[in-house]
Amino acid sequence: MITLNINGKQQQVEAEADTPLLWVLRDELHMNGTKFGCGMALCGACTVHVDGQPTRACVMPASSAVGKKITTIEAIGANPVGKRVQQAWAELEVPQCGYCQSGQIMAATALLREIPHPTDQDIDQAMSGNICRCGTYQRIRLAIHKAAGNA
Ligand code: FES
Ligand code: FES
Repeated sequence: MITLNINGKQQQVEAEADTPLLWVLRDELHMNGTKFGCGMALCGACTVHVDGQPTRACVMPASSAVGKKITTIEAIGANPVGKRVQQAWAELEVPQCGYCQSGQIMAATALLREIPHPTDQDIDQAMSGNICRCGTYQRIRLAIHKAAGNA
């Protein structure tokens, strides 16, 4: 049994110590907002925040997250920056198929918490690990500027 702090709630789950956090979220807790893409830390679809840092849940053993604060897409709107990001995403209609977008929003929120008014270069650097097969990169960049109050 592992106890994890997820979105401000203590959650007890039956999981082996090396079970990836993503599996715990999706299969044990049925929190399906965080997506499985590559399973190899290459695409960013599974990005969550662990103690505020963007983290690939597909390669993080659940046991490594014990005692840390995990935030997922389901609760990112409770954070003022996350809420602004979600609003900008909706206003600019960023998603196409949508599959990568939970991870994109989590990465963008982490960026804006670190750098409130990022340049294009900051955005490209922070978002480069989040792949979008639909090619929504231009709208993602605009939405980040909008959420930052730059546009
Ligand atoms: S599913 Fe985790 S990075 Fe691709
Ligand atoms: S919106 Fe389809 S993969 Fe990004």
